[in-house]
Parts: sequence; structure tokens; C-alpha cells
Amino acid sequence: MSGDEINQKRRRLLTATVAVGSVGAIAGAVPFMSSWQPSAKARAIGAPIEVDISDMKVGQLKKFEWQGKPVWVLRRSEAMINELASVEDELSDPESSVDQQPAYAQNAHRSRKPEFLVVVGVCTHLGCSPSFQSPESLDNASDAWKGGFYCPCHGSRFDMAGRVYRNVPAPTNLIVPPYKFVSDTRIVIGDDSEETA
Ligand code: FES
Repeated sequence: MSGDEINQKRRRLLTATVAVGSVGAIAGAVPFMSSWQPSAKARAIGAPIEVDISDMKVGQLKKFEWQGKPVWVLRRSEAMINELASVEDELSDPESSVDQQPAYAQNAHRSRKPEFLVVVGVCTHLGCSPSFQSPESLDNASDAWKGGFYCPCHGSRFDMAGRVYRNVPAPTNLIVPPYKFVSDTRIVIGDDSEETA
């Protein structure tokens, strides 16, 4: 075999080896890429949800799920709104100084609109789900407890704005998620970019 023929054979062998190596690299990369990208289900869990509140009666609580967590919308009555100020002395953080809400909910009613409270329904102590206690359902209403949210796990109480009472295990107010009204009767939870209503 001449020197030229030997060189040609080496070149062909080298080209084939590089081609096989590239295919292997791509084949190896595909499973990695697909395992790295979040699944459609994971993306759906994190996505904002749009909820309809058109049928809510005054005083009613409606429950939704966002990011695997319960989110509550409470349509507060005039009396519930007016009584927020009267329990402030009993609360641990009446002005919502701890960062548990977006800036637009750091106000006396912890919401964009006084009538509607939107909170994550998870106790800030160890994560139980508090129950809603309307003023009408209470046997033990008092000046200090006019209803709100009661956590049965260790007895934490929150007012009608999700603000935590003093001397209970929960350290902070309930979380207000990002949200916005897209009409008078629809709220998007999980997105607070420019509001349209
Ligand atoms: Fe709610 Fe402990 S988890 S009081």
C-alpha cells in the first residue's frame, strides 16, 4: 500500500470516529435537556389562576388552589371592615410591618379593595389550615374576638384581614399572594402586573 493510500484510509477512519462521537454527544444531551426543562405539569402548578367571584355573597369565603396551596377570597361585610380597627390592640402586627404581603396590601384592610380579602390559607406557625369563623357562627364572640380564622392545631387566631393575634404560636400574619382584579368579578392570583380593573 502506497503512502497516499495509507493517509486516505486514516482520514476516512478519523472522519467516521468524529461523526460517531458527535451523535453520541447529541444523544446524551437530549435526555439531559428533557429532564432539565420543567414539565408542563410543574409549569401549570406555578402558573397564575383566574377566579370568578361574581356569585359571592357578602360574608362568604371561597376557596381556590394556587401553586398547590389553598387561597381564600373573603367578601367582607361593612361590619367586618369597620371592626378591623377595633381589634388592633389585640394583634401582634396590626400594621403588617412584617413582609407577608405585596405593598398594595400593606394597609388597614390588607387588600387591594376593602371588600375583598385574598390570603393564603396556611397557618404561619406550622402550616395547618385555619378555619373561617364568621361573627354569626361564634358562641364566644367578645370585644377581642369577633371572628376571623382559627387554627385548630395549636390555637392561633387571625382577624378578618388575616392579622395574627398576640400570644398565639403563629409568629406572623397570613400571607397575601400577588393578585390583581381583571374586572369587578374576576381576580388573577399569582400575577400582579398592571391591574386592569
Ligand atoms: Fe396553626 Fe400551629 S399550625 S397554630
